Order: sequence, then C-alpha cells, then structure tokens
Amino acid sequence: MKRLIEIPINRLPAEGQRILLRHEEKSVLLLNVAGTFHAIDDSCPHSGASLFAGKLQGNMLQCPAHGLRFNLDKGCPAAKGLEVRTYPIDRQGEICIVNLSGS
Ligand code: FES
Repeated sequence: MKRLIEIPINRLPAEGQRILLRHEEKSVLLLNVAGTFHAIDDSCPHSGASLFAGKLQGNMLQCPAHGLRFNLDKGCPAAKGLEVRTYPIDRQGEICIVNLSGS
C-alpha cells in the first residue's frame, strides 16, 4: 500500500523555507532549496534529533545536534552507513505528493 502525503501547492514552502509534514507516526521535513523541493525524514540517523532547525548550505543540511551534514539528494556523504532517508516528490496539477513508500 502506498503511503502518500498530499500538499496543495499554495501550502508549499517558499524558496529558502521549510515545513514539517506529519503522516501517522512519521515526521517529514520538506525544504525548498533554490526552487527545488526535497523531502527527508525529520530524524537524524545518528541519534534521532530533529533536522528542522539544521543549517542549510547549498543542498547540504547540517544536523543541529552534533553537526553531521546530509546531502539532500543522496543522504549522508560524511559518515558511511548514516544516511537520512529521502522521499520522491511528484506534482500532479495543484497537488504536490510526497511518496513515503519510495526512497
Ligand atoms: S543527532 Fe544528528 S549528528 Fe547526532
């Protein structure tokens, strides 16, 4: 069964902004980086800290707890085996869909 989060496009974050999405027990961070949207787990794979307040440099997001940096496209190049989960995003008309079944 597909697990989807649907967001009307008028509720998407503006460029440089981010929002937190909830689906059942999961928190997903949706970021708009220079007009490109990225959806990732809002849970750092190191120790579970929220990434919502992480510092953004280009498409690298730094965990506010201990400083690991995550590539928003690929996961984490800094520490082998510690990758943040990324989710595909699709747009269908006036709706943006984050697919939690994908990776
Ligand atoms: S919890 Fe994110 S780097 Fe430690």
